[in-house]
Amino acid sequence: MKRLLLDSNPQTEELLRQRAVAVRQQLYGKRVYIRGLIEFTNYCKNDCYYCGIRRSNKKASRYRLSIEEILDCCKRGYALGFRTFVLQGGEDGYYTDERLCHIIGEIRSLYPDCAITLSIGEKSKESYQRYYEAGANRYLLRHETACEAHYEMLHPKEMSLSNRKRCLQDLKEIGYQVGCGFMVGSPYQTIEHILDDLSFIKEFKPHMVGIGPYLVHKDTPFCNEKSGDYRLTLKLLSIIRLMLPNVLLPATTALGTISPKGREEGILSGANVLMPNLSPVMVREKYSLYDNKICTGDEAAECVACMKRRMESSGYEVVVDRGDFRK
Ligand code: 5AD
Ligand code: FES
Repeated sequence: MKRLLLDSNPQTEELLRQRAVAVRQQLYGKRVYIRGLIEFTNYCKNDCYYCGIRRSNKKASRYRLSIEEILDCCKRGYALGFRTFVLQGGEDGYYTDERLCHIIGEIRSLYPDCAITLSIGEKSKESYQRYYEAGANRYLLRHETACEAHYEMLHPKEMSLSNRKRCLQDLKEIGYQVGCGFMVGSPYQTIEHILDDLSFIKEFKPHMVGIGPYLVHKDTPFCNEKSGDYRLTLKLLSIIRLMLPNVLLPATTALGTISPKGREEGILSGANVLMPNLSPVMVREKYSLYDNKICTGDEAAECVACMKRRMESSGYEVVVDRGDFRK
């Protein structure tokens, strides 16, 4: 595996890509799933060194969406064909379990045919259980790096890899479809770390894997670091597809940000999920994890139309479907 990662021969990349696409084709055909991303708060109590919405970034202009605004995003999203809503946010104490369960419950009763995905960080098992009972089905929590020492270089000491892993385990035990993942080219990352990430993913067997290049944010301690490598990210998408044939694998916004055709190429490398933004345009720019994020000025409808066009021109089809994990 190490040799494969270090081999930058375009022919190797092409072969990996072809195999990954063939494997995905057998299970998912040319279907690409869309998830409506609702970035409902950019307040965060954590201080991850790489992230633009870290609590110490005093330049971030903070916002929270009201339940009415969130439900309005869902309404517009449903009309556009979304059958999965992803509620993503910083770790924001304003949204107590009670508030979150109320929001989840409302979405669940208004849209019984939709999947609800949460991406709101580390919580207790009891909290995860409550959200599940309120109607959430899936949870995204990237492990960020599977190496303890590397984890400590990316996060302040109050955060730990062991707690992340505990969360991922709890989520799985409760019955969520779970997604882990990492940034490609995060500061201090080595090939060995990536090998650890791949082993962790292989062992954990997540239903979803979120990977994208690390991208610099100017108002973070890592402002002078380099962004991740685009081709390595594509290669890792192919490798992950081959490792877990039925995994739900998004071509992320970060991939689309680092290269104009990033999301198309992600799909052509083995990804099968896209997550267009449903957040109100008013707040889009504020949910800035990294610099130059794409689609911040576009209405959801424009993004969906744009994605459909892009996928069709690459020979793929965006489908209206919950797009559950297939065993
Ligand atoms: N570049 C790329 N991805 C980032 N994330 C956070 N900050 C950045 C950045 N600067 C990713 C993390 C997190 C997910 C929501 O976004 O992996 O888990
Ligand atoms: Fe947002 Fe293309 S996907 S404008």
